[in-house]
Amino acid sequence: RSEKVWITIGGVVLAAFFATVAIDAFVMGATPPSDPKMIDPAKVSTTPPFDKPGLVQVGPKEYDANMTAFTFGFGPNVLNVPVGAKVNFHVTSKDVVHGFEIPGTDVNMMIDPGFVNSASHTFDKPGKYLILCNEYCGAGHQLMMATIIVG
Ligand code: CUA
Repeated sequence: RSEKVWITIGGVVLAAFFATVAIDAFVMGATPPSDPKMIDPAKVSTTPPFDKPGLVQVGPKEYDANMTAFTFGFGPNVLNVPVGAKVNFHVTSKDVVHGFEIPGTDVNMMIDPGFVNSASHTFDKPGKYLILCNEYCGAGHQLMMATIIVG
């Protein structure tokens, strides 16, 4: 008789344990932990440094390029970079998922709305480089590009 009681208690404890795990999983799933780096995509245009997209000199031969991606373009549309400069691209999207590829370099990123993705490249050769979107993002996808002029 007392054995039955203990088995029942054991069962109840086990059930309570699983219920706790299930509730935790549900609550966590319902409210994912907020990422401090996340920007509300609707507020990208008013959030520094993306309120003033462009080049910022951060060293003797080093620049940050803070850029936005949107349907269907990049801000800014043209970057003028001195030969030999290292450029750290920091890019976020104002709307949907875009791509950020600079053919002829290793820069190739996916740009998620509100998340800042980064990549660097040193432009040793003068010339014209293209920034292309390589994620299908809608009717104007093929037209989505910007230019880097190194010289
Ligand atoms: Cu943006 Cu394709």
